[in-house]
Amino acid sequence: MQHLLGIEDLSADDIRNILDRAAYYAKALEGGKWDHKTLDDKIIITLFFEPSTRTLISFDIAAKRLGANVVNWQVENSAMRKDESFLDTILTLNQMRPDAIIIRHVEFGAPNFVATRVDCPVINGGDSWREHPTQALLDALTMEREIGKLEDLTVAICGDVAHSRVANSNAILLKKMGANVRIVAPEFLMPEKFAVEGLETFTSLEEGLPGADAVMLLRIQKERMEAGQIPDDAAYHNEFGLTLEQLNLAGPKAFVMHPGPMNRGVEISDELAEDPERSLIARQVANGIPTRMAVLDMLIGG
Ligand code: NCD
Repeated sequence: MQHLLGIEDLSADDIRNILDRAAYYAKALEGGKWDHKTLDDKIIITLFFEPSTRTLISFDIAAKRLGANVVNWQVENSAMRKDESFLDTILTLNQMRPDAIIIRHVEFGAPNFVATRVDCPVINGGDSWREHPTQALLDALTMEREIGKLEDLTVAICGDVAHSRVANSNAILLKKMGANVRIVAPEFLMPEKFAVEGLETFTSLEEGLPGADAVMLLRIQKERMEAGQIPDDAAYHNEFGLTLEQLNLAGPKAFVMHPGPMNRGVEISDELAEDPERSLIARQVANGIPTRMAVLDMLIGG
């Protein structure tokens, strides 16, 4: 593995290796024991062109837990404010010889382009609606730790699937690992085509949820919609919002997941978001650290 640009580029064996390493780091973090110097002297640049709380901080912490130094580039304070181009920004940073670049960008395939122009590994922290590979990996780690093996698991991915890189990366990963994947979305948020074959599609929670082991919710990504496309929050909640009652349509033991940021009262009810027995949302955030430690270790570790 030279870069991590998308789940699409990984084999089932690659995914297995990352998840095993991530599970090792998850246990090590819980026990307070791991090698803090794995990434000693490494310098990692985070280059985020879109807002982020979880992904950015989690990469930063994962890198620092392994002893790396992190430089957070910020568009507002950069020479792009003086009309420097994206390409010149990348070429400039490359000359400073970072050991890795982690990028989030609004453009489809931007991390792949960067990978062709720099000399270090590039990690995709999310590009447009295309891929968000570390989110899918941390979701997979969470399902394996909390539910069981991915093979034959039934996962319903619900909501604004059309604009979601999280849905895309998860669907690709889950199919590669032998899970059953359902896409549950209102017509206007259902993608016209999918990156993988064999997904079942449903246009209501009543049809799509029964029998699912996990229900993965998505935010309505208003920033990727035209003004006229944006649904009314309350109307959406009535039809597609997940409450405990709706989650029980899947089954009495089904779990809810969400990559965050959540919009409580829209795609998820306030109570369900923090339900101690049925929500894996907090654990997804926690599992982001060992997952990203695993990825960094495998790409640039000694
Ligand atoms: C998501 C993202 O930015 O792709 N969040 C995340 O990284 N955990 C999902 C979203 O923005 O809705």
